[in-house]
Amino acid sequence: MHTETTLSSTPALSKATHSYSITYSAPLPDSVAAVHARTLEFCEQRGIDPVYMISPSEAQFLAFLARMMGAKRVLEIGTFTGYSALAMAHAVPDAEVVTLDLQDAVGAELARENLRGCGNVRLVEGDAMETLKTLPPSPPFDLIFLDANKNGYIPYTSYILSQRLLSPHGILVVDNTLSKGFVLENSPPEEGFRGVEIPGREELGKKWEVMGKEVQRFNEWVRGREDVEVVVVPVWDGVSLVRWKGVGSM
Ligand SMILES: C[S@@+](CC[C@H](N)C(=O)[O-])C[C@H]1O[C@@H](n2cnc3c(N)ncnc32)[C@H](O)[C@@H]1O
Repeated sequence: MHTETTLSSTPALSKATHSYSITYSAPLPDSVAAVHARTLEFCEQRGIDPVYMISPSEAQFLAFLARMMGAKRVLEIGTFTGYSALAMAHAVPDAEVVTLDLQDAVGAELARENLRGCGNVRLVEGDAMETLKTLPPSPPFDLIFLDANKNGYIPYTSYILSQRLLSPHGILVVDNTLSKGFVLENSPPEEGFRGVEIPGREELGKKWEVMGKEVQRFNEWVRGREDVEVVVVPVWDGVSLVRWKGVGSM
């Protein structure tokens, strides 16, 4: 019986099909692609793991989603160097995109530079939980991309839902909800990266293990909520889409 979708059976095939997906999806503007390239260089120079940034195909997906929804207000939690924020901002130039990151975070300087020329993005620095409390709730956000500290996923989402920061037809997109498989109870670190070459793999494995547990708590918590429905899509590092229950079914 066919019970699962094996997209790519080997790491090489996975790389090739990922690249194919990018080619056959609506392209991102050159200026956004340039930010991706610049961020890769920045990561290389600073010894930062480039998986911090979403992949070009996930950026294409967010841009598609923003356009499809006709988003007027977009919120991102976790800016890094601004790549994902810019992908969404260019997709919906009439929308206001608010992106949150820590004060002087590791990518802050580059983010400020990258976002400078884009009039519809506003970077707000400071702890995201504190910043969230300062955001005007109205009009609510149509698209929210959550991609920051994993131990904040429950408090952020809880606040967003309780304050109705997500519009009635809005979508909350949560990144890394499979966390390289570390959300699984028995995911041996050995298999956690499945062939991906990462320097300092062991150290990173421990970090992912902690993250996996935090994300697992979020996945359990959000599934148990009565007011929203969630779908965990097993692409990239796992991406969950969350929406208010009962909206749009009439
Ligand atoms: C995975 S990166 C975001 C990547 C970005 N979305 C992209 O694709 O280019 C996570 C970001 O969350 C930020 N972050 C971590 N803890 C935070 C907090 N408490 N408040 C705000 N931002 C936080 C980090 O500084 C980091 O830049």
